[in-house]
Amino acid sequence: MIRFYHVSKIYKERNYALQDVTVTIHPREFCFITGPSGAGKSTFLKLALGEEIPTSGQVLVTGRNLQSIKSSEFPYFRRKIGTVFQDFRLITTRTIYENITILLKLQGYSNNEMRKRAFDTLRLVGLQSKMESFPEELSGGEQQRVAIARALISKPNLLLADEPTGNLDPELAHEIMRIFQEVNASGTTVVVATHDKSLIAAFGARVIVLQKGKLVDAGE
Ligand SMILES: Nc1ncnc2c1ncn2[C@@H]1O[C@H](COP(=O)(O)OP(=O)(O)O)[C@@H](O)[C@H]1O
Ligand SMILES: [Mg+2]
Repeated sequence: MIRFYHVSKIYKERNYALQDVTVTIHPREFCFITGPSGAGKSTFLKLALGEEIPTSGQVLVTGRNLQSIKSSEFPYFRRKIGTVFQDFRLITTRTIYENITILLKLQGYSNNEMRKRAFDTLRLVGLQSKMESFPEELSGGEQQRVAIARALISKPNLLLADEPTGNLDPELAHEIMRIFQEVNASGTTVVVATHDKSLIAAFGARVIVLQKGKLVDAGE
């Protein structure tokens, strides 16, 4: 699903954000990427998303070499990848329903299909009653769950989450991980970057460890 082959990333001269990382994440896998702040976790996810390009090496995602994807093809490539970031930014002037269906609307889905998907996805995160609420009417944890629903409503093959529980108390963090496990059980590959050791300890998944840009444990 994701294959990094001798991938290095340098943002600024001689400063490796990632250094010669070779690792494979298989379809349907659930794995964590961990390591201290600055280890390269976010860089790893940005490279997998094609938001950053490697300084050297190859990044393959869903069988495609990202360097070979034309910019016009990129939106299609991205459709089947869900993302959840710590800074989840919902649109404050739009309802939860509108927030999570924006991309479907752009893709021309019917109102009926969007309603159905919104209901099913919000039910998965326990927020089906909040469809017509506005973001500011929800707690931080609820807003984060909306961000997860927004990522899942497109039925992604791959879910990339960067510190998705960073703002949340431990109980909510665990709840979100349980949602991710459910999503994973239904066939989605899930990759969660986190520096939270207790979160990782609570879930028996593969752990990829980065340190100062180097892969120190592939978790295999
Ligand atoms: N856009 C950027 N420009 C310059 N340096 C960056 C940029 N993004 C990240 N870095 C540097 O790359 C290294 C890895 O960062 P990052 O991938 O964000 O690590 P993590 O997510 O594990 O905290 C850090 O030294 C960071 O300062
Ligand atoms: Mg980070």
